[in-house]
Amino acid sequence: MFSRPIIAVVGLTLVSAESLSDYVEGLQNAFTSAGLNRMFQGIASISSTDFGQRMLGQMQADDEVTIFAPMDDAWDPPGPYGNLSDPQNIVTMLSYQIVTTNLTASRMPDPPSHTIAFTLFRSADHTLPGDQTQVLVVERADPGLVVRKPDYNLTTTGDVSFYSNVVIWPTDGIIQLPIDSLDVLSHIIDYPDGTIPAAGWEQILSSTDLTGYFEGCFGCTFFVPIDRAVEAVNGTLQGYKDNFRRAVVKNHIINGTTIYTSQLHEGDTFVTSGGETIAYASNDTGSYFLSHGQAARLVRGDIPTSNGVIILIDTVFLETNTDTSNADHAAEDNRDNAPTGTSLSGIAGQIQQTLTLPATSSVATPTSTGSTTVSAGSDQSSAICLSALPLYIWMSILTIVTMSSVNVWEA
Ligand SMILES: *[C@@H]1O[C@H](CO)[C@@H](O)[C@H](O)[C@H]1NC(C)=O
Ligand SMILES: *[C@@H]1O[C@H](CO)[C@@H](O)[C@H](O)[C@H]1NC(C)=O
Ligand SMILES: *[C@@H]1O[C@H](CO)[C@@H](O)[C@H](O)[C@H]1NC(C)=O
Ligand SMILES: *[C@@H]1O[C@H](CO)[C@@H](O)[C@H](O)[C@H]1NC(C)=O
Ligand SMILES: *[C@@H]1O[C@H](CO)[C@@H](O)[C@H](O)[C@H]1NC(C)=O
Ligand SMILES: *[C@@H]1O[C@H](CO)[C@@H](O)[C@H](O)[C@H]1NC(C)=O
Repeated sequence: MFSRPIIAVVGLTLVSAESLSDYVEGLQNAFTSAGLNRMFQGIASISSTDFGQRMLGQMQADDEVTIFAPMDDAWDPPGPYGNLSDPQNIVTMLSYQIVTTNLTASRMPDPPSHTIAFTLFRSADHTLPGDQTQVLVVERADPGLVVRKPDYNLTTTGDVSFYSNVVIWPTDGIIQLPIDSLDVLSHIIDYPDGTIPAAGWEQILSSTDLTGYFEGCFGCTFFVPIDRAVEAVNGTLQGYKDNFRRAVVKNHIINGTTIYTSQLHEGDTFVTSGGETIAYASNDTGSYFLSHGQAARLVRGDIPTSNGVIILIDTVFLETNTDTSNADHAAEDNRDNAPTGTSLSGIAGQIQQTLTLPATSSVATPTSTGSTTVSAGSDQSSAICLSALPLYIWMSILTIVTMSSVNVWEA
């Protein structure tokens, strides 16, 4: 399903006093002490390969990394990463379990705020703008941490441990790579009021023949109205001519930019694939996106997909205008000026450089993971937004107070 994973390298040119083999040996001992024998074996098998050494070298060179280390039972049977006897598959898998920052509970914001952190993973089939790596969205769970996936949570099990620059969290599963934007819609996205939010939008995509367009947008932000929003305007939409309905869909996609909530600043505007604008604003009631005189409330953002990120909103923008040349221009502009992992502020763990690894063997498509429990009727809102701080200030806050910003998932 994916090929040519590319590992982000941080500080590759730094020469460490400790030799890599000493570092790796220490790391292996740390895994053994934490009862993570498969991690020990996994590291042993990758450390005799070039690409494994490169990944381990990067870990050593980084100031701080956190590993979500699958417990022994989680290594079988082979999941979407393929047979984990193969060192390449192990490196691919680990590259998505490792973030380049220190995710220790005491450094993280109070739930339900979450932290968005860069992993080491990117590949040709996971195309994000500006060579960005895929992110993990992590929340403090007290005890431990929870990694938020669209429709399930992966929790840490047992105590955190430390070795050198590494923070180790044992987990009861392997974090699967993000699936594509369309696949996410067909899952039950977990959000507070418990309905299936995206099924209605999928219907609109197929009735406008824009399913492929949606799925084929790479490095994009997808505003997806929840079901009750779609139901509220379904009649109106049915009455539109085809080209107007298509315009409505295109005006919910931003081509060439992944918008994570921690990066949003009051007054930001984005040009849609329809060539119209969406602006961001917030007030005491919540965070909103504005289009065509309509305000849509942010319901849940930061749902990573293999081709971008989904933001759930509570209103369908009935923007039927289009401006193709504006849209094309914006998409090109977005790509030309895409923030890289180094310049993307508000996300924990900056990435400085990338390195190509050899191709992996192919992997199976991830399957749906179980059912979703949500707290029905919860209408709790939380809006914590890091404001527009320059990166260097943000970084110093990071070291003093907490990890990162974050935001708003609410009904
Ligand atoms: C995984 O690969 C190893 C070594 O190639 C092989 O012995 C093992 O049977 C494979 N496991 C599965 C479940 O395919
Ligand atoms: C995942 O965790 C969050 C809070 O940490 C919770 O609100 C949500 O319901 C959980 N989702 C599932 C599917 O358990
Ligand atoms: C991570 O943060 C914790 C808590 O502040 C600290 O004890 C630990 O030494 C840090 N680890 C690294 C590698 O920075
Ligand atoms: C919208 O209306 C169409 C036609 O009446 C119907 O088939 C569809 O189920 C409705 N969709 C939603 C999400 O209400
Ligand atoms: C996104 O922009 C690229 C050009 O940068 C274009 O080729 C592609 O068709 C656009 N996709 C969508 C869904 O707008
Ligand atoms: C915040 O903005 C939204 C959208 O414009 C509006 O509906 C809401 O009443 C505003 N809330 C406050 C407290 O001003």
